Amino acid sequence: MSQGQKFYITTPIYYVNARPHIGHAYTTLACDAIARQKRMMGVDTYFLTGTDEHGQKIERSANAAGKSPKEFTDEVSNEFRALWDKMGIKYDGFIRTTDEHHQRGVQEMFRKIRDNGFIYKAKYTGQYCVSDELYVNEGGPGSPCPICGNPTETVSEENYFFKLSAFQDKLLKLFEEQPELIRPETRRNEVISFVRSGLRDLSISRASFKWGIPVPDDPSHVIYVWMDALSNYCTAVGYGSPSKRDQQMFAKYWPADVHMIGKEIVRFHCVYWPAFLMAAELELPKSIVAHGWLLFEESKMSKTRGNIVRAETIIDVLGNDALRYFLLREVVFGQDGTFSFDSLAQRYDSDLANGLGNLTSRTLTMIQRYFHGKIPYPSPTAARTAAEDGIAQLSAVVIRNYNQLFGDYQFSRALETAWSLVAAVNKYIVDQEPWAVAEKGDEGSLARLATILYTSAEALRIVTALVHPVIPESSAKIWEQLGLKKIEQVNPQTLKWGELKLGTKLGKVEAVFPRAEKNAVERMQQMEQDRINQAGAATATATAPEPAGVGAVAGQPATQAAAAPNATAAAAQSATNGLISIDDFSKVELRVGQVKTAEKVKGADKLLRLEVDIGTEVRQIVAGIALAYAPESLVGRKVVIVANLAPRKLRGIESNGMIVAASFGEQGTPVLAGFLEDVPVGARLK
Ligand code: MSP
Repeated sequence: MSQGQKFYITTPIYYVNARPHIGHAYTTLACDAIARQKRMMGVDTYFLTGTDEHGQKIERSANAAGKSPKEFTDEVSNEFRALWDKMGIKYDGFIRTTDEHHQRGVQEMFRKIRDNGFIYKAKYTGQYCVSDELYVNEGGPGSPCPICGNPTETVSEENYFFKLSAFQDKLLKLFEEQPELIRPETRRNEVISFVRSGLRDLSISRASFKWGIPVPDDPSHVIYVWMDALSNYCTAVGYGSPSKRDQQMFAKYWPADVHMIGKEIVRFHCVYWPAFLMAAELELPKSIVAHGWLLFEESKMSKTRGNIVRAETIIDVLGNDALRYFLLREVVFGQDGTFSFDSLAQRYDSDLANGLGNLTSRTLTMIQRYFHGKIPYPSPTAARTAAEDGIAQLSAVVIRNYNQLFGDYQFSRALETAWSLVAAVNKYIVDQEPWAVAEKGDEGSLARLATILYTSAEALRIVTALVHPVIPESSAKIWEQLGLKKIEQVNPQTLKWGELKLGTKLGKVEAVFPRAEKNAVERMQQMEQDRINQAGAATATATAPEPAGVGAVAGQPATQAAAAPNATAAAAQSATNGLISIDDFSKVELRVGQVKTAEKVKGADKLLRLEVDIGTEVRQIVAGIALAYAPESLVGRKVVIVANLAPRKLRGIESNGMIVAASFGEQGTPVLAGFLEDVPVGARLK
């Protein structure tokens, strides 16, 4: 263990409104690989991840799912944990913002900042993006959020404010003095220009909903969800705890060495968080590293866009290490990268099955066959050629470059370097033809064979140790097959050529990356399609249990609209033999609305975004009717809407209600419900 060294690394804590997907897996995996490498280097490492469970967005999602926030957050938080376990993520701490010790710590931090004079009460009127839980200073009602583009909501409340403006100069000085704080450089520059453009005080409490941590001494307010969430990095390692042990833990691990984040949450981490910490007189993190997005179908993979890929699908078909390797190899860290099943399968075949897998099996099988399964003695002189020296020299270069690139978060280039050694050794084996050398059978040839196989096995040992943090399961298997022990204790920085002990007895030799099935891509695509179909049906059950008898629902995309009547019928059937009571029916608030504006939703063939006047207000509704209706034909038209449906997002746009339509034919063509006589806008249907 390196004396006195510690390393504390964190992922963002994930919102529990969405099930985990490979976008979340990407950040967690990067941190896991870094943490594993640090542990191999003997550094006392603490790797923290967790879930962000408070706030308006989560409260609404729980309502929409018909669950209490606690029940809902327990369920999704467990899903994150289960996925991390499945992916072999070795975290040291998993924090939930609903944990009691966290809540106590957040209140403590609030109190401290207030006592230091940086909190005051005032009225806030402005825009708020619930999706990003972000106060948006610019724009008016409905104007888009600068992060996600969704329409913002107007908030007008008496709030507690944090004096962020008091930290403008201090932050600029900090960025100047610690150029390594924000990485990469592009993000640092963005942050500096954001801060230079002027900081306004920040509202840090909300009074209009309850799902959050109460403000100390004023429980009518809950603490702003980002203040709550950011504080997790301190509370998880003991901040705010009365226990001596926790306090020692905090003293040991804080400040964090790395906060790893996605690029969309840079402002919260690089502006708000350092300012909160300065106000609370706490040390600042040593670095904040922002990576790019994993794109799928050309946009950021996210639940609201509905373009997610589950990690489980990939793990079930190609294995955990295939997913881990692909994510870190394919995407240049810091930049956006596109996910596709085809490139995943290609990488698997070329780098894992044909590359490392092949190197392992041919080297070890030949050692078994020709040397009774023991690492052979290379010839010190006669049987040695320039080719062996070449591999030994390349290995030394690869060790140095790999460690440097990996330490600099350039995972893709680090892996590329490691695989240059794999390719070189595979080529070396083909060039040297050990199987032909073996056939000669004389003593000189045997010495030559020993040299070739020792060289291959030694290079394999080095690559395997280097890439262990990225593909832990398979590298551990290769390690054991090489007859070695405890790969997790090998220090990648002190690896040296020539340390593979002669005569080491191999373990049981087995294929590590079997060739992928021919239809692997189609299988994964089908599994994802099945999931989308199931989710569509489940959404219809969860959000529309009431509309039995009101026809198809046009506030949903066509696939979901078509699924709704069946799901609804099933729910009703289980109640009272297919019949519902008048009370059940009266729960559905059907009203006459009039379409004010209509437009196509970019990138979605079937969706229209409508503004519909329902008498008391104008609602934004997204409806899956674009194939049947031209937007301009709808303006002024009276329609029937379900007015008390929980809001939901379609393609990132919040839909506040559904338009009622009949749906028929194989395509589920929608026909809007309407009236033969004139009816006033807002009238209720009963
Ligand atoms: N809860 C906040 C973070 C609070 S941290 C104090 C939040 N949560 S989130 O669930 O939206 O997760 C955000 C993080 O997940 C991103 O910053 C990123 O690390 C990861 N990703 C989610 N989708 C992603 C992609 N499509 N691509 C890459 N990373 C992505 O924001």
